[in-house]
Amino acid sequence: MPKSSRYGRKALAASLVIALSGGLGMALESSPAAAAGGGFPFPEQSWSFDGVFGTFDRAALQRGFQVYNEACSACHGLEYVAFRNLAALGYNDEQIKAFAAEKLIVDGPDDEGEMFEREGRPSDLFPSPFPNAQAAAASNNGAVPPDLSLMAKARAGGADYIYAILMGYQDSLPESVLQEIFDLRTAENEKKYKAALEEYEDRLDAYQDKIEDGQTATEPVKPEKPEPVTSVEDLGLPDTAHFNAYFAGFGIAMGQPLYGDDVEFADGTEATIEQQARDVAHFLTWAAEPTMEERKRSGIKVILFLIVLTALFYAVKRKVWADLH
Ligand code: HEC
Repeated sequence: MPKSSRYGRKALAASLVIALSGGLGMALESSPAAAAGGGFPFPEQSWSFDGVFGTFDRAALQRGFQVYNEACSACHGLEYVAFRNLAALGYNDEQIKAFAAEKLIVDGPDDEGEMFEREGRPSDLFPSPFPNAQAAAASNNGAVPPDLSLMAKARAGGADYIYAILMGYQDSLPESVLQEIFDLRTAENEKKYKAALEEYEDRLDAYQDKIEDGQTATEPVKPEKPEPVTSVEDLGLPDTAHFNAYFAGFGIAMGQPLYGDDVEFADGTEATIEQQARDVAHFLTWAAEPTMEERKRSGIKVILFLIVLTALFYAVKRKVWADLH
């Protein structure tokens, strides 16, 4: 085999690798920005938008929007999404106008320099339900409900994490997960107890030395051995926190938002808690990246384009070298 052709094959292979990795990089999801961390590891779900060819499910998006609108929007804004963006979910102009008109938007100032409230219009962004962070915190035991526009990108696990949080309250949790969390906390408590006991013994030695020397000293208090954790109450969460398996520290300021039948789905789907949690996680994934499908499509086009280009270059190279031999 002539040398040049061997090099040619290597170059061809290298170009193909570059083409594929470039295009795949565009087509595949980018990795999330920050880790959620601290809660129990949440299970991975399968979604229609997974993978290079994944797309959103329009029916799930409409149901998810309904859940957001009726069960979450009282506390959470969606400040990067405009009502007219809902056209992508398959809603028509009339429906979008009606959704917008349900919300009050602060506008102004008017001729007198006053701000005023008016009905929403399709071009408005989903408003934050509270006038400012202080008002939001005051209505929610000191915690501010975060804007949900980018939540699916902001947390590691995206839709899986949002689904897990909504299903992470005691009622919907498998007994086995609950038990694992109790065991985890029991082990933590024992570790802390052991450390405290060692410190106590050191202090006790120092105390006894002082007493033997005739000095005055206060006797250290022996730490109490912790009982095993057998219930959510034993976890010792702050009063304002609600137990949630998948939230950092197992306590979240958000009270359980979904119980099942919180909305009546327009398409007749049964509104179980799982269904609502899945659909709203689907919707929030769209909200965080409404152009995901376009990004994947152009990624695939890039792959095809680069493969064709590579083949062309290879053909040209063969032609050029053929004359030189
Ligand atoms: C009564 C108010 C209220 C409602 C209704 C509500 N939330 Fe929340 N939500 C909160 C508060 C408060 C927090 C902040 C919790 C914290 O930091 O401990 C929060 C936090 C969150 C978080 C962020 C968790 C994190 O990792 O920081 C997500 C996701 C979330 N809510 C989703 C939803 C969804 C989806 C719905 C509707 C199904 C909903 N919430 C309904 C008050 C609410």
